[in-house]
Amino acid sequence: MVRVIVSTTSGPAAAPTAPSAPPRAAHAETALPTAVDVDAAADRLRGVATVTPLEPCERLSAATDARVFLKREDLQRVRSYKLRGAYNLMVQLTEAERAAGIVAASAGNHAQGVAFACRMLGVRGRIYVPTTTPRQKRDRIAFHGGDLVQVISVGSTFDAAAAAAAEDVARTGATIVPPFDDPRTAAGQGTIAAEILEQLHTAPDVVVVPVGGGGCAAGIATYLAERSPNTRLVAAEPAGAASLTAALVAGGPVTLDEIDPFVDGAAVRRIGALPYAVLSAREAEVVQIDEGAICTAMLDLYQSEGVIAEPAGALSVAALTATSIPAGATVVCLVSGGNNDVSRYGEILERSLVHRGLKHYFLVDFPQEPGALRTFLDSVLGPDDDITLFEYVKRNNRETGAALVGVELGAAEGLSALLERMESSPMHVEHLEPGTPAYRYLT
Ligand SMILES: Cc1ncc(COP(=O)(O)O)c(C=O)c1O
Repeated sequence: MVRVIVSTTSGPAAAPTAPSAPPRAAHAETALPTAVDVDAAADRLRGVATVTPLEPCERLSAATDARVFLKREDLQRVRSYKLRGAYNLMVQLTEAERAAGIVAASAGNHAQGVAFACRMLGVRGRIYVPTTTPRQKRDRIAFHGGDLVQVISVGSTFDAAAAAAAEDVARTGATIVPPFDDPRTAAGQGTIAAEILEQLHTAPDVVVVPVGGGGCAAGIATYLAERSPNTRLVAAEPAGAASLTAALVAGGPVTLDEIDPFVDGAAVRRIGALPYAVLSAREAEVVQIDEGAICTAMLDLYQSEGVIAEPAGALSVAALTATSIPAGATVVCLVSGGNNDVSRYGEILERSLVHRGLKHYFLVDFPQEPGALRTFLDSVLGPDDDITLFEYVKRNNRETGAALVGVELGAAEGLSALLERMESSPMHVEHLEPGTPAYRYLT
């Protein structure tokens, strides 16, 4: 039995509507991984993957009145847990499969794990990534793979890259290394749960994990179900790409028509068939987390703990406010990756401010008379409010006509007073709501 919980975090949520394909039954033919498979994966990964720290987090413990630990896969070799699944799969390939070369599709982190495994095992590979994969990740893939790996950018989503990889395999007979929909991949990711139990010396009450295609959640769910059955598993997915939620509602994996690609590690249109089979059979809670809340969690982790988490890496921490945590509970949040391109911080700050109600955009129609702008500044803005953007919509018509105005408030509660002052001013003002077509032009 799976409980689907719709997160209470505000902001635009693109899920879980409008699937474009009818539900399909989950992979009955694929064997599901077991805890024994996870233990075998842990043996294979000894000396290859880092045993990452499990660290108590004072700030989050105080905020939740619980004992919160962070499982630091951002400190993994390749800076995400993805090496675990990729290596566990590739080390089990036959000589013939290796000789055919491997092909993988990835939003960036699986690719780094695959590239790393290629170099360790001396296997050649072609890796397809979407053009949205940040440069930082593309550079790291090339670094880990060296001469053995070719990186090919194609399409704007993971799914487009996956289609190109499948076409390559059909054409060349190369061996595919799936990022989540394979029992060997899922068992490799499940080794995170084995480490958590060993490091904690006790069963955690709650484990919170991110979900993209679902391989990580499936591996961890498998292990916990057998070795720590009283542990609650919370699966957190981005609100703009909630493919697990959509599958649970539909009764099988469905393809989302539109996704927000912002959480690049976890923005997947369709949950994997194997992860769906595992997660729908186990009592996991699924929460959808607004992208702005993820940005706030990233910034808080950076500012308070000095942890560099990428968006998918901060999903579990952001999910703490979207699920009920009993007082005194022992909670583990999986910080799944730390490959964040520094050039993304502008957008991360912006999304966080909007999510916290501190940043707003308006279309202001200034009357065609001198001093209109001064009136706006003097009598509409509050003492703690700042203008962060001012742009006439018609650039050849300065001083008159509508302007796009961005305002950062001193406190979110200041919005209603600001709106009242706008209402009683001589200008016509339209508040652009996040998610509306006019607002999208800004972001
Ligand atoms: C850092 C990070 N976290 C979470 C995920 C989601 O993982 P999965 O596809 O196994 O659900 C990914 C996937 O690439 C990732 O890179």
